[in-house]
Amino acid sequence: MTERILAIETSCDETAAAVVEDRARVLSSVVASQVDVHRKYGGVVPELASRHHVEAIGPVVAEALERSGVGIEAVDAVAVTAGPGLVGSLLVGVSAAKAIAWRRGVPLLAVNHLEGHIRSPFLDDPEIPFPAVALVVSGGHTSLYLCPEEGEYRLLARTRDDAAGEAFDKVAKLLGLGYPGGPIIDRLSEGADEAAVPFPKAVMKDRSLDFSFSGLKTAVRRLAQAEGIARGSAVGGEISPRVRDVVASFQRAVVAALVDGTLRACRREGIRTVLVAGGVACNRRLRRAFSEAAAEHRLSVHVPSPEHTTDNAAMIAAAGFLHLERGRHAGPALDADPNWRL
Ligand code: KG4
Ligand code: ZN
Repeated sequence: MTERILAIETSCDETAAAVVEDRARVLSSVVASQVDVHRKYGGVVPELASRHHVEAIGPVVAEALERSGVGIEAVDAVAVTAGPGLVGSLLVGVSAAKAIAWRRGVPLLAVNHLEGHIRSPFLDDPEIPFPAVALVVSGGHTSLYLCPEEGEYRLLARTRDDAAGEAFDKVAKLLGLGYPGGPIIDRLSEGADEAAVPFPKAVMKDRSLDFSFSGLKTAVRRLAQAEGIARGSAVGGEISPRVRDVVASFQRAVVAALVDGTLRACRREGIRTVLVAGGVACNRRLRRAFSEAAAEHRLSVHVPSPEHTTDNAAMIAAAGFLHLERGRHAGPALDADPNWRL
């Protein structure tokens, strides 16, 4: 029997809704980004984010239903991100999902945002085998999970300070390149000399698999100050070749740490399947590095298509199906949990 989930995601600065059928068939996926709202502050302002979610949620859900070609009557459950994230933002999605589920008399499914990211590669390839190691690399998180089976997650490692996406955003900010930094650095690095600055690979000195990116960020700041290229690199339009080499070298160091940590986790756990998810998985250098590592180490690496890497609701639906199939319904008292750990 065909099953359809309407999913809602409002954990950070994207208001998103999607309708997904039979685990992985995306009928519609609408994402309203607030990036223009937050750009002038150089980061997400929580109060502004929740206010914009309130304005956008109705139209975004309506558009997702309309584009899906099936009405609200054809929806069998409503999935929503209940955490982690910004509490005011999460609450907007949770309230909307509750209202729709209650009105339609269908199950409400509470999804962890990180589980959503981990399920995102399955939207492109539903048959990925388990066990797997999952790297979640976004603006708020950089973690490695062991997934022995579908729906099971054991934390293997995390960042001890900044998330990788956060490091991209901070480095772009300190060089005056704009916001959000990830896509900007990705673009500026293309064709630049990534061996120009030998930044140290960001790995822990102890034997743990944890990541750390704040030292690398500080190294970029010191170099930029010493060379007088901190802030305002983009003033006057042209960005100098040196700045492009610096960000390319930074990007290479981040990518090396992420690939290295993931390979070590696979080796330690004896795993051959890798899932890479989260906004930073959009990065072209990272995608290239993982496809090379896959060939070299004979791993099966799965990175979602770019539209499924950054925050979206289709991935929340994909995770919601696991809950629906297992009868894990949330009650009417569901609350947002800004620190929900997977
Ligand atoms: O998953 P996501 O949309 O939101 C969170 O859950 O955090 O990830 C957003 C992060 C931002 O830090 C952004 O700079 C980064 O992903 N990002 C990228 C790229 N596209 C987005 N980082 C590197 N390269 C990219 N192409
Ligand atoms: Zn995310």
